[in-house]
Amino acid sequence: MTVAAVVTAAGSGTRLGLDVPKALAPVGGIPLVAWAASSLAAVCEQVVVTAPAEHLDAFRDAVAHVAADVVVVAGGETRQRSVALGLAAVRPDADEILVHDAARAFMPVAVSGRALAALEDADGVIPVLPVVDTIVTTSDGALGYLDRASLGAVQTPQAFRATELRDAHARAEADGFEGTDDGSLLVRYGYRVVTCDGDVEGRKVTYPEDLDHFEQRIATP
Ligand code: C5P
Repeated sequence: MTVAAVVTAAGSGTRLGLDVPKALAPVGGIPLVAWAASSLAAVCEQVVVTAPAEHLDAFRDAVAHVAADVVVVAGGETRQRSVALGLAAVRPDADEILVHDAARAFMPVAVSGRALAALEDADGVIPVLPVVDTIVTTSDGALGYLDRASLGAVQTPQAFRATELRDAHARAEADGFEGTDDGSLLVRYGYRVVTCDGDVEGRKVTYPEDLDHFEQRIATP
């Protein structure tokens, strides 16, 4: 079985307030994208990183020390387009593909293992955490309460059979369908997607406080 990974790192990260793309933000002196790629390198034969087109050299430098076959390609306008461009650079003999957000740089590698193990009986696996907040919908000024017990927060890395992931992306592009993750594309086209346990350490770095949290976390393991 050959496993490859696509790391989405082409976002700007404006909410972090830095003058570099989010995935280049350092924690412990190491850029987020390098933390994410190193973690995946433990379970993959190849890691494809999607980076902002104008920062390819900086991203290649950032992942140069990662002990794996790492390829950096330009991402697209949306996360989904970035994944599609990453898939085009994944080695054709890969049977299974993990898709992971560089912004979840500190997700424990055990979650990749869980997701790949659950792929035995599915076309796709998404890590999910229970929702701890009460969630409401607010569109059109109408307040709607959702049943918290039936909700889950979706994380990455998500694991997929390569053929099914490529097919779902091609069909979504043809349909003009835009999802916020890859599992939603497989569900839309009738593939079997199951869940595995996520991990709170896989929280997405979005705001400056998230960087502070992980700086402290790695300083006090
Ligand atoms: O913005 P958000 O945190 O939802 O982005 C999730 C992930 O998708 C990030 O790792 C980001 O770098 C990536 N992304 C991308 N291409 C885009 C937008 C976001 O690779 N056009």
